[in-house]
Amino acid sequence: MSPFQLTRTLPADATDAALRADVLSGLTGRPKTLPPKWFYDARGSELFEEITRLPEYYPTRAEREILQERAEEIAAASGARTVIELGSGSSEKTRHLLDALPELHTYVPVDVSESALSGAAEALLAERPELSVHALVADFTGGLALPGSPGPRLVVFLGGTIGNLLPRERTTFLRSVRSLLSPGDALLLGTDLVKEEATLVAAYDDAAHVTAAFNKNVLNVVNRELGADFPLDDFDHVAVWNREERWMEMRLRARRALNVKIRELDLVVPFESGEELRTEVSAKFRQEDVREELAAAGLRLAQWWTDSADRFALSLATAV
Ligand code: SAH
Ligand code: TRP
Repeated sequence: MSPFQLTRTLPADATDAALRADVLSGLTGRPKTLPPKWFYDARGSELFEEITRLPEYYPTRAEREILQERAEEIAAASGARTVIELGSGSSEKTRHLLDALPELHTYVPVDVSESALSGAAEALLAERPELSVHALVADFTGGLALPGSPGPRLVVFLGGTIGNLLPRERTTFLRSVRSLLSPGDALLLGTDLVKEEATLVAAYDDAAHVTAAFNKNVLNVVNRELGADFPLDDFDHVAVWNREERWMEMRLRARRALNVKIRELDLVVPFESGEELRTEVSAKFRQEDVREELAAAGLRLAQWWTDSADRFALSLATAV
């Protein structure tokens, strides 16, 4: 059997239908919004990788530090023979963990970006040819149908991506993760921590404007997939810290009044000058927030590790 398998649980037309539904409800609502998963076409995945290397974007480096320092501990606590990674992207940081698991049999990276999945699998198999890699092109917020593989299982969700879900979506999501766990299985969760506003804003509004390009890429996706005519140059990238909600908010602000035509939806979307479209939130946590959200989903916080500068945390949780 080939050590690499890729399963698409998102047929092209279903993705198209989901994109249409999201764009229609998001752009006709008030305020206007677009859900984050549409950032990640091949170009979006590349731009995100560029973000992870920016001097201002500390989360990737902080999380990598924890994974490097704690890989053995995490591996010993989980003893995983199967690692399932949600929103795996390049899987680059995860390798520290995979390398510390001698009994590892199967790695299941799950992502909406097929290009990210194939690139990651290729790099991984070059180093660990004996590993069985079963990639899933799937939406991790839907019900996941996982391939059969040996336990114990460790579900891994890194990058602080959980913060890109809204509070209610996080509860639903964590419950669905809980339902994947059998006794002896665990969840490893990466969360960015609440910190000084200037540090947060810089991480989402870098000097080289890579985050701005990433944010605007969602308009490119809608232009290409739905025949829309968003003029990218007429939108500004905006990143603000929302203190009450404890999340970073990414928005695109229209520089002038304009009408955007979305051919495939037979829709014209008017923007006032200065009107903002919310594209993403990135929630930041304190330990008690993580503990409570896990508990509400039937999960118990068993271990908590942070980087040396206390910027980012990794939690290990087990089913109650
Ligand atoms: N885990 C990597 C990548 C984080 S970026 C890291 O820590 O660096 C978020 C990743 O989640 C992207 O690869 C994106 O394609 C994926 N993603 C976003 N929404 C998703 C969804 N609903 N279902 C599956 N994957 C999703
Ligand atoms: N999961 C990443 C985060 O919240 C995604 C991200 C980084 C992002 N920079 C962004 C999303 C800018 C939208 C806009 O940190």
